[in-house]
Amino acid sequence: MPRARTSRIAGFYNLSLPERLEQAAIAAGLDDEWTAMYRVAGGLEPGQAEHMIENVVGIFGLPLGIATNFLINGVERLIPMVIEEPSVVAGASYMAKLARASGGFLAESDPSEMIGQIQVLDLPDPNQAAERILAQEDALLAQANLADETLVSLGGGARSIEIRILEQTAAGPMLIVHLIFDTLDAMGANSVNTALEKLAPSIAQLTGGRTQLRILSNLADRRLARARCQVAVKSLAFDEFPGEQVRDGIIEAWAFADADPYRAATHNKGIMNGVDAVVVATGNDWRAVEAGAHAFAARSSRYRSLSTWSLGKQGQLEGTLELPLALGTIGGATRVHPLARANLALLGVQHARELAEIVAAVGLAQNLAALRALASEGIQRGHMELHARQVAIAAGAEGELIERVARQMVASDKINLEAAGEFLRAEEAC
Ligand code: MEV
Repeated sequence: MPRARTSRIAGFYNLSLPERLEQAAIAAGLDDEWTAMYRVAGGLEPGQAEHMIENVVGIFGLPLGIATNFLINGVERLIPMVIEEPSVVAGASYMAKLARASGGFLAESDPSEMIGQIQVLDLPDPNQAAERILAQEDALLAQANLADETLVSLGGGARSIEIRILEQTAAGPMLIVHLIFDTLDAMGANSVNTALEKLAPSIAQLTGGRTQLRILSNLADRRLARARCQVAVKSLAFDEFPGEQVRDGIIEAWAFADADPYRAATHNKGIMNGVDAVVVATGNDWRAVEAGAHAFAARSSRYRSLSTWSLGKQGQLEGTLELPLALGTIGGATRVHPLARANLALLGVQHARELAEIVAAVGLAQNLAALRALASEGIQRGHMELHARQVAIAAGAEGELIERVARQMVASDKINLEAAGEFLRAEEAC
């Protein structure tokens, strides 16, 4: 797999779209076969889309940008991000630039252990049923391993069984079997669900109970990824805002999020702006990642921040992020969608854990970008400049006129379709 020789591409923002692709391909060592995939509109042919879901009538495009400057565990990474929201790619790139001056991001991840659940009902004695299951753990694991012999031959497969008894539910007591299953480089939903379906009849026989749901849990809390970074206080200064003020504002913003679920939801949404953009770009299941992240954020019975920001010993800002990331680099859309494959090549990743570490680093960078803006000038100025461009396009501006109309809207503080139409007509009349 090629690897980025550098993620610092001078003036990347100012290049034309084809030049950006060319420069990114050079930096990442991608040849023409890969770059050709970026030139297909939407990155996907209708014929390919038809094999992915039902009743296909078209392809819905989203912008794919590349975030620069990322140094993660000492490795240069260009980051593909699919997202419709302005400022996200620029914010991640800029924060990565600030973090790389202090060594970039350090990240680590757990093994790819997913949890599959089997619901067992109508048990006269759930505790006795639990004992019976655990007494047969080895035989049950061997049976579960029949679900994916290739995965097992590569070192993955069933690891252990855990039992949870839910004494009080709306449907009475129930016993829940957790099958812990290492899916290696796959997200793993298919292997886990197949293993659960194989196992359920034996569980019913062993316990005398009735097995009902057999499905993986998206609270993948045995498959966590963590990232951390430091930013020197002087790099946080901008315009009239001193670095100390921005740093302390970021720590106060984090404290707010950690104490208040209303703020935590928005704070974590900012993290997921970065996380989801890479998850989508690599063809992974972003709904699974979203569900897991928010359930994990509420693990203490209160919904809290997924990140932490604190003051370091030398006065620097220190950040950490931890969240479940059930991602794959094989299987599903990661292999079927040509651009997902190209984006994995651009990232230079082969393994799911490596991808999860990158995604955690991008989430942390994105969180920092949002908090830095919120703790100083607010996010609206940057947002409005980019929003103005979208309004200009909606009003019919093309090419250079987009920028010119947008600039006039921002300068006159009138960012709406009517104003865009007026500025556009005036420009066209020139
Ligand atoms: C907007 O998409 C994300 C933010 O609201 C995140 C935050 O408030 O931390 C800016």
